[in-house]
Amino acid sequence: MARNVVISGGGTGIGLAAARAFAADGDQVLLLGRRAEVLEKADVPGALTHAADLSDPHAVRGVAQFVAAELGTVDVLVNNAGGAGNPEAGADTDEPLEAVAHTWTVNFRQNVLTAALLTEALRERLASPGGRVLFLSSIAAYRGSGSGAYAASKAALHPYAFDLARDLGPRGITVNVVAPGYVEDTDFFGEAIDPARRDRLVAETSTGRAGTPGDIAATLHWLASPGAGHITAQVIQVNGGAERGH
Ligand SMILES: NC(=O)c1ccc[n+]([C@@H]2O[C@H](COP(=O)([O-])OP(=O)(O)OC[C@H]3O[C@@H](n4cnc5c(N)ncnc54)[C@H](OP(=O)(O)O)[C@@H]3O)[C@@H](O)[C@H]2O)c1
Repeated sequence: MARNVVISGGGTGIGLAAARAFAADGDQVLLLGRRAEVLEKADVPGALTHAADLSDPHAVRGVAQFVAAELGTVDVLVNNAGGAGNPEAGADTDEPLEAVAHTWTVNFRQNVLTAALLTEALRERLASPGGRVLFLSSIAAYRGSGSGAYAASKAALHPYAFDLARDLGPRGITVNVVAPGYVEDTDFFGEAIDPARRDRLVAETSTGRAGTPGDIAATLHWLASPGAGHITAQVIQVNGGAERGH
């Protein structure tokens, strides 16, 4: 039976690949993101689109109204929107602590608030039983990310998912986190990644290659399948062996 699938950041990269995977099943997909023109250009059969900054409660209330009118029930919620600040404006200050506050605030808004606001706005609409909530974390949550701000914002999603899994489990809803390693062919690194950095990231894998949006989409699709119905409160790493276990 066709399902209603809401994907944040569904116009590019991993979110777009996930949208195509669900649409290939005949599911009704709703793509969310800030840039309407990017969503409209996304080539996903039958997809609905709605532009909103998901770190803004007012905008998320608008998403909830749109979902109520167009979908009613949400079978799968993929909280994929995020990033390390792209394309937010940099800190407009030379004062070091102001710059720190800016970096941490931008990462918190982009990775934590986007996911928490959307999930809380839609939680009563989740299919019961059978609903699925998925979050996108990162290998950075285990390793750090330089300033720590991006990594910490991704790590914050783990306990949120664990608490949600406990709350929503009695309704027959599972909640899981997918933590990718380096994935290419997305907008995450802006225009281009430094080739030396790319080589270093690929060399860390056991598979000898970068991840693709399709790799992550396939894992999200599997976690949303009936066969994954007893998997909840887990963090699934998809990184070609660059980070082991946990
Ligand atoms: N690529 C990697 O190597 C990698 C590794 C680990 C984890 N991840 C995670 O995977 C997820 C998908 O990233 P990606 O690699 O596919 O990069 P991407 O192409 O840049 O996708 C990020 C998406 O999130 C949307 N977005 C960002 N902030 C938003 C906001 N405030 N409100 C609504 N939408 C917002 C963006 O659209 P708009 O700009 O139009 O809003 C964009 O479509 C992210 O959470 C990222 O942190 C990526």
